[in-house]
Amino acid sequence: MSIDWKNLGFSYIKTDYRYIAKWQNGSWQKGELTTDNIIHIAESSTAIHYGQQCFEGLKAYGTKDGGIQIFRPDQNANRLNRSAKRLLMPEVPVDMFVDACVQVVKANEKFVPPYDSGATLYLRPFLIGVGDNIGVKPAPEYIFSIFCVPVGPYFKGGMTPVNFSLSEYDRAAPVGTGAAKVGGNYAGSLLPHKIAADGGFADCIYLDPLTHTKIEEVGAANFFGITADNTFVTPLSPSILPSITKYSLMHVAKEYLNMKVEERDCYIEKLDEFAEAGACGTAAVITPIGGIKVKDKLHVFHSETEVGPVTKKLYDTLVGIQKGDVEAPEGWIVKVK
Ligand SMILES: Cc1ncc(COP(=O)(O)O)c(C=O)c1O
Repeated sequence: MSIDWKNLGFSYIKTDYRYIAKWQNGSWQKGELTTDNIIHIAESSTAIHYGQQCFEGLKAYGTKDGGIQIFRPDQNANRLNRSAKRLLMPEVPVDMFVDACVQVVKANEKFVPPYDSGATLYLRPFLIGVGDNIGVKPAPEYIFSIFCVPVGPYFKGGMTPVNFSLSEYDRAAPVGTGAAKVGGNYAGSLLPHKIAADGGFADCIYLDPLTHTKIEEVGAANFFGITADNTFVTPLSPSILPSITKYSLMHVAKEYLNMKVEERDCYIEKLDEFAEAGACGTAAVITPIGGIKVKDKLHVFHSETEVGPVTKKLYDTLVGIQKGDVEAPEGWIVKVK
């Protein structure tokens, strides 16, 4: 199979191997790689009926010297375990998670996009409740699996700014599951996303579910703004998914670019405070926000067509670290090859 690395979108491609492990009788059984991409589970599995499932997303990168490396898999393991705790599922030991990521990348080496292609290998770990059950209660058994897909940019255009509209729907409840990466949050986002896309927007912005005055998320990515005095600002709220990219960018802004960093409320009525704005996440990487439509007016930040200078520097440094061109903070990179 030949892959056109430079024109990859964000679509499923069946790769050769995936990792699968079962939790039975109170403990994890030894996991293994398999070529079978179909999971056979009980019809009464809690993952199907009650949404007892969570997942993750992280990437492996081809480096200039022909190596392969994974970005911060321990952080994804920790977040999966926080999601698991919230839904009363067994945690996956961090070592087991990271080792499984490495096994999957190694086994699918031919699907790792080359360094200069602009594409990456996206890993999708997930944990699902399975087995015979009918009442609303935790499953008797669980499956933890990881598959991988080579991907290009999530938002069409990559580093070209895109516009967003405001959602009238909430993606999470104030003290619900917004901070957990659980499927139900995403099922609820399909309709608001469609409404935004039908209106010609890349996706929608969710406001805080309690007051509807503060920015929470940009589709399936976190929000950041850059003030005129060069401060990196990003919202803080218990119903936002804590983005690993966002926390990495906060570190990059402070330690590599000497910027001030603030995690605080970002009011939708105060977009003027930002000279630049962006969406950040594993899939979105950094996607510059051209404008946000508020009521009938499109609020444009830096430009609808050009990426702003600070956003560009943040992007270059972060992606440089991920691809091995810029020295990474200790512990951020797991070498596969
Ligand atoms: C709702 C939501 N917010 C933010 C993010 C970005 O998080 P991360 O940077 O860890 O990929 C994601 C993607 O995982 C997401 O689904």
